Parts: sequence; C-alpha cells; structure tokens
Amino acid sequence: MRMVDLIEKKRDGQPLTKEEISFIIDGYTKGEIPDYQISAFTMAVFFQGMTAQERADLTMAMVHSGETIDLSEIEGIKVDKHSTGGVGDTTTLVLAPLVASVGVPVAKMSGRGLGHTGGTVDKLESVPGFHVEITNEVFIHLVNKNKVAVIGQSGNLTPADKKLYSLRDVTATVNSIPLIASSIMSKKIAAGADAIVLDVKTGAGAFMKDLEDAKELAKAMVSIGNNVGRQTIAVITDMSQPLGYAIGNSLEVQEAIDTLKGEGPSDLEELCLTLGSQMVYLAKKADSLDQAKSLLIESIKSGKALETLKIFLSAQGGDASVVDDYSKLPQAAHTFELEAKEEGYVSEMIADGIGTAAMLLGAGRATKDSVIDLSVGLLLRKKIGEKVQKGDSLVTLFSNQEDVEEVKEKLYQSIKISPEIVESPKLVLDKIE
Ligand code: URA
Ligand code: CA
Repeated sequence: MRMVDLIEKKRDGQPLTKEEISFIIDGYTKGEIPDYQISAFTMAVFFQGMTAQERADLTMAMVHSGETIDLSEIEGIKVDKHSTGGVGDTTTLVLAPLVASVGVPVAKMSGRGLGHTGGTVDKLESVPGFHVEITNEVFIHLVNKNKVAVIGQSGNLTPADKKLYSLRDVTATVNSIPLIASSIMSKKIAAGADAIVLDVKTGAGAFMKDLEDAKELAKAMVSIGNNVGRQTIAVITDMSQPLGYAIGNSLEVQEAIDTLKGEGPSDLEELCLTLGSQMVYLAKKADSLDQAKSLLIESIKSGKALETLKIFLSAQGGDASVVDDYSKLPQAAHTFELEAKEEGYVSEMIADGIGTAAMLLGAGRATKDSVIDLSVGLLLRKKIGEKVQKGDSLVTLFSNQEDVEEVKEKLYQSIKISPEIVESPKLVLDKIE
C-alpha cells in the first residue's frame, strides 16, 4: 500500500477500507509516514468527510495505536462521561460520587490539561493530601470497594491522536467533525468505557458555537460509539454563560460539595441529574430515566452522595473534613467586587471572556508548564435574566494579586446589562441517542 494512493482516493471522495485506515494510523504512529502526507490526508478528510464506517474504523485504529486500559476486573458496566469543555464545568466532581453512591462503578482517568481553570485532577488536588498517582491495581481495588476512584492520565493512551491533534492544530484541520469525533471517542474507548454519556456544549464558551454544529458532532460521536459496541448517548447543553457560579479550582470544589449537599446552583444540579440519570440507566441500575433520577435525588437527600465523596477523598489521601469546613481548602489573599455600572437585566455573560478573566487571575494554565493557583477564581453573583441595581456586585474576584484592573476590564467586556427583561437560557437543548 502507498500513502500517496490513499491521499488521492480520499481527495476524490472515495471511502477508505479498514485496512487502509489502519495502514495510515499505524504508519503515522511509528513515524513511517511523514507529517506532510498526513497533512494532505487530513485536509482531504476536511473537504470530503468520512462515512460512518470510516469514522468507526479511524477511531478503533487510534485506540489500538497505544495502551488500552483493561477494566474487566471491575464488576458492573463502566460508564464514562465526557464533556466537550466549557467554563466552570464542575459536573465531574459532582457526578463521580453521585452515581457511585447508587452503585454505578466510576473508574475515571483524568488529566490536568490547559484551559480557563484546571482539569478534574487539579480541582481535586485542592483537597489537602488528595493524589491520583496510584497504581492500576490500587485503582481497580478502590473502584470495586468504594465504586469510585480517579487515576492520572496514562502517558501512552492513543498516541496517534496526540500526534494527529498537534498536526491538525497547525494545518487548519481541527474543525472537522469526523476528526473531532474520532479523537474524542478514541480516548474514551482506550480508557476502558463500556458505555459513554457525552455532554456536547454549545454557545460562546464552547468549542461548537452554534447548535447545528453541536448536534452534528453529537450525532457523529453517538454513531461511532454504537458502531463499535459501546452504547453512547449525547446531551446538548448551553454554554453561553458559565455553569453554576464558581470558576476556579477550590471554588469549584466548594460548589460541587454544595451540590452534593442539595444546596448547589440550580443549573449545575439540573445538568448533574440529567447526565447522571443517563449514566445510571446505561449502567442498568435503573429501568427508566425517571427511576434513575429519583435514585440520585434520594441519594442527595439522604446524605449518601456526600458520604461517598468523603470515602472517595479519604481513600486517595485527601482530608475529607473539607466537606464540613471549606476554610481548609486553599484560600486567596484578597477579594474584590465587580460592581454594576447601571441597572437593568443581565443579558449576556459571555462564557469564554469570563473564563479568560479567571485565567488572568491564575486559575488556569496558558501553556503546559504554567503553574496553577488553586485558590483564585471568580464567583458570579448574577446570571443571565437576573435584575441588577447600579452598584450591585456582579462577580466576586478571589485573587492573590492586588491589582485586578485588567481582570475587571475583561469582565466588564463580557457581561452585558440591558434595560429590557431577558429570559434565562434553557440549559438542556437536545438529546441524541
Ligand atoms: N477535543 C479533542 O479531544 N479532539 C479534537 O479533535 C477536538 C477537541
Ligand atoms: Ca461552576
């Protein structure tokens, strides 16, 4: 087989076979096919697309390019959840103990990653002593015992995706539905998921800015999952404004704990119950989505969900008493209020601008070597649709810097106030099965 012939075939819009796709991915992973040929190939895919079969074959070729995690020693159906990324998304911290508390095994591999705030691992490390550097044996033992554990990302998962993603980044081929869908799904499958619940975000703070694109991506991922024998569903949710009120690592941990106590922001709670019900249902711990939701609500009410969080934190070295005393979490030295300059109704809270403001305070990483400050971040005091008076606080800033003028400026640019009444946006927009 010659790579040039395969590029030509895709350029002319013909589907590639499984063997041809494996040839490309294997050759690229081993360094036998050069970047310039893969660049031409991804550009051909960008314009010609891929059939459902090709997308499934590409996904599995990337899964087999490196290590795969074997979770077969964990009892039950392992359901993973993936979000395409947003601002202040604290759902994993809530969902992991919540669904575990009703018997769904949560074997989560999580990373640090770049972005407005840290990844799930950074957030969890706000809890003194908590660590994710555990062996595979300990990980599996903990999931069997407590139903939930989190392990750091293995270095050799889907190496083909890592290479391909870096190349796409500099060849204007990131934004291709077949390439994004296979990239995301390959990582979930390699991490051992039997079933997958996807939260595809849409709006200003999301990768997919408009609803139609988000739906198309969701359909592509659901089709791949179901084609390769992993039951997959997707929920499409709004990310025009940040989720919940907290944006920042230890602030989000507090918000997650509040939610497990039944005292969290209503949008975060709604999203966790929506995604959680899907997870419980796919894990066959309930016969219907309604029943799944009732189980989760009951677990929050009875304190079982919170107890599961404490057990999970302690099992990985964390100080579980933070649950009852937030002052044990990292604290910023200063707080500042962002005061409304006029009265009216909040009409926009542009999620990515607000995320950038959190990053300016030090809550996220701009490059992989940046150091994160777990204590800093933002607490929104208003959300879209709420009435404000001049001088009301729109946002509280938690900072270790004394000069926050640049951050305030970014926030003022991202928050709009209108004289007319504004409806708050609907959170769950669609579901793809
Ligand atoms: N996120 C991924 O993991 N892969 C993509 O291709 C795009 C976003
Ligand atoms: Ca939040």
